[in-house]
Amino acid sequence: VSRRPLVAANWKMHGTVTSVQAYLEGLVERVAIAGPEVVVCPPFTLLPAAALIATGSAVAVGAQNCHWEENGAFTGEVAPAMLAELGVRWVIVGHSERRQYFGESDATAGARARAAQHAGLDVIFCVGETLAQREAGETLAVLERQSTALEGLDPAHLALAYEPVWAIGTGRTATTAQAQEAHVALRRRAAELLGGAAAAGLRILYGGSVKPDNAAALLAEADVDGALVGGASLDLEGFCAIILGALGERRGAKE
Ligand code: 13P
Repeated sequence: VSRRPLVAANWKMHGTVTSVQAYLEGLVERVAIAGPEVVVCPPFTLLPAAALIATGSAVAVGAQNCHWEENGAFTGEVAPAMLAELGVRWVIVGHSERRQYFGESDATAGARARAAQHAGLDVIFCVGETLAQREAGETLAVLERQSTALEGLDPAHLALAYEPVWAIGTGRTATTAQAQEAHVALRRRAAELLGGAAAAGLRILYGGSVKPDNAAALLAEADVDGALVGGASLDLEGFCAIILGALGERRGAKE
């Protein structure tokens, strides 16, 4: 099974129309069709400007969240079809910051992911343990519980992101061995839920203080198929360096 690396930028709550335009114009020029798949996820307000520049290029645009209903009285929410209409291809679902600050649960994350796929979007589904959970030896149990939401999703329009909460925005990265161990467990879990063939083809991204200087080593692990990059993705040069790191020794695809 060959898995094309996927590198996604999660801008979180950063950026302006001017900055996203300059960034995407630069990125589109530098990203090759043959290399890793590249996705940029800016805040909702920047999606129209981003999609306009990315359409027809090797760069795809993603949102950072979506609601599970198609429309209705849900003040402040955005439906997946509204994103698709803009030319948005991907959506991040279940990010730990949503879980931590905005009441996201396994159930709501699962509902968002199903609705997103139903609207034709590809989903980056996030899982990951807190520091307390890791120290209590609960990491694999937490990942197993969180990934239950994958059941019933279409694996052809899915990527999984392992983001240990203690590594997000802290400058503290999981070791390559810690990442590989979690990814192997997640792939085993995905096989139970989605079938062996689907799990073998599923991209599992690592996220948590990915930087230009650690990306290549993380991505060299057999089951690390890409990166979900927060802070370091805000700088175009840094993000391009991470994409180059994802090219790795095998130039584009893992066997
Ligand atoms: P940092 O790369 O800033 O640690 O953020 C990771 C993340 O949460 C990506 O979704």
